Amino acid sequence: MLVLGIESSCDDTAAAVVENGTKILSSVILDQNTIHSIYGGVVPELAGRSHVEVIDKVIKQALKLSEVSLEEIDLIAVTKGPGLVSSLLVGINTAKALAYALQIPLIGVNHLEGHLLAIFLQEPVKFPFIALTVSGGHTDLYRVNGFGEYIILGRTRDDAAGEAFDKVAKMLNLGYPGGPIIEKKAKFGNSSAHHFPRAFLEKGSLDFSFSGLKTSVRNIISKREELSGFILSDEDIAASFQSAVIEVLSTKLVLACKQQNINRVVVTGGVAANQALRQKVKVECDKNDFQCFFPNLRYCTDNAAMIACAGYYNSCNSFPVVNSFLSLDASSVKSL
Ligand code: KG4
Ligand code: ZN
Repeated sequence: MLVLGIESSCDDTAAAVVENGTKILSSVILDQNTIHSIYGGVVPELAGRSHVEVIDKVIKQALKLSEVSLEEIDLIAVTKGPGLVSSLLVGINTAKALAYALQIPLIGVNHLEGHLLAIFLQEPVKFPFIALTVSGGHTDLYRVNGFGEYIILGRTRDDAAGEAFDKVAKMLNLGYPGGPIIEKKAKFGNSSAHHFPRAFLEKGSLDFSFSGLKTSVRNIISKREELSGFILSDEDIAASFQSAVIEVLSTKLVLACKQQNINRVVVTGGVAANQALRQKVKVECDKNDFQCFFPNLRYCTDNAAMIACAGYYNSCNSFPVVNSFLSLDASSVKSL
């Protein structure tokens, strides 16, 4: 089955052609980093407008690279949410129009389910597994029992981990998106230069909180000149901040496995592209005899191949209703 995936939930316009949920024939991603970098974050109005300008070109390019014609597509899968409504609507309306014109089925995919299943573009991980979804909008722990069977174990009570990376980069005037920039700076810094707070919350809790850490970074940045002659560099702040985030994420991931008695983990979402996080998770998993899986870097951050993949598995299991394009709109967004 040939699936055309379309993703426009935030600031990446993406289209992909995927065969049978695993074989990526093409994956095109156009980011809007130059548009948003001067603001240090995504401006929803600008994001929506930019999607409108490029979505048809991105889809055409994906079809061209895959050497598949529109008429050969069996199913269209589009991100239905969560995300920025003005961005989501561009992908959803384009997908509706295409499905209607071609008279083929359309399926709305939850963006988080796309991240959860991105690993299946590479290898079929055995169920059940624990998934840590860490992106700009979400930091969640799931028990994944099968396709469509997701039990939420914990989530952030305030900021997402990726958002914290973006805000810290903004505070240091380093640009957007902050994650890759902070990661690069951190390589040249001392992660023990400052001990930022780690919010582990109540004993046994699998929830997260990063707002206190963010505030603490802000305080240190404004006070660093006064720190008794010891001046923290941007690199030291980046490394110390990153190590606080990674310690909390990896500790809670291991705790989730132990609580659920599961020895397989998948780490996914934009922050899963962070090499230091991947290394730490690998070390902790080796210590505990867990298997760990990470999507390739290109499929950690937003992309349409993961949407095509999730659309494929949803349609195989016939949930939710395929061909519901008349009722599919951004207001039908539900959390996973
Ligand atoms: O999954 P994603 O592309 O979009 C959302 O669904 O939010 O994730 C984007 C987030 C941004 O906050 C970005 O700063 C972060 O992922 N990110 C990273 C890295 N690459 C992207 N965070 C830490 N280290 C990275 N290498
Ligand atoms: Zn995402």
